[in-house]
Amino acid sequence: MKIIKTRDYEHMSRQAANIIAALVTLQPDSVLGLATGSSPLGIYKHLIGLYEHGDVSFDRVRAVTLDEYAGLSSTHPDSFAYYLNSRFFSRVNIAAENIYLLNGENAAHQEECAAFDKRIQGLGGVDLQLLGLGGNGHIGFNEPKPSFSKGTHRTSLTEETIEANSHFFEDKRKIPTHAYTMGVSGIMQAKRLLMVVSGEQKAEILNKAFFGPITPEIPASALQFHSDFTLVADEAALSLCPPDCV
Ligand code: GLP
Repeated sequence: MKIIKTRDYEHMSRQAANIIAALVTLQPDSVLGLATGSSPLGIYKHLIGLYEHGDVSFDRVRAVTLDEYAGLSSTHPDSFAYYLNSRFFSRVNIAAENIYLLNGENAAHQEECAAFDKRIQGLGGVDLQLLGLGGNGHIGFNEPKPSFSKGTHRTSLTEETIEANSHFFEDKRKIPTHAYTMGVSGIMQAKRLLMVVSGEQKAEILNKAFFGPITPEIPASALQFHSDFTLVADEAALSLCPPDCV
């Protein structure tokens, strides 16, 4: 695990965006696994800036999503498809046919998940998977459980996660209770993992996830086993980690 300590959210976002841009420059047809939530918002903003300045091109990039709410269509303003389309894809030169999203509206969930995993396999796997850290240690929508999940699957969300994500929803009564997500072992198959974490409210879980025991009760702790895992976190998020951790 490599840790990059940054001053604040803005600095974290630029550092992580630079890592993604460098990969895309070296390997223009990279398969990027993209995450949603508040943490990566700044990354997308900086990647758009780099693209607008002609410093990076996404014309050959393939992109897959990490997770999606069950029951929401890609045009629903609270879906992750809508988030990625409006905040990133529509602002850069990625080709529509190179975007592979989970269809939250497909009620045939086993088929949807199996087809998604097959698509990733067909792309040759994910070159870089971007991740945020849930307040309870979840990654994607892999909630704390007695065992680690494997492939893409449909899952129920904890009250804590529903509450944490509620600020994105105008009508809080309509927050989905289920979601589709890549599994922990699917995430671990990505060639590189890049996680961004910001703020003192994540300090305790970050310390437990990456400096405590590996346990499915903290799904992110599995990332300790990955051979190419970069954590870009700000000082506040790293404030409870061992002093020599960076
Ligand atoms: C959601 C997403 C995760 C994300 C997490 C943290 O539950 N499914 O992929 O990493 O929230 O979100 P935030 O970055 O808003 O703290």
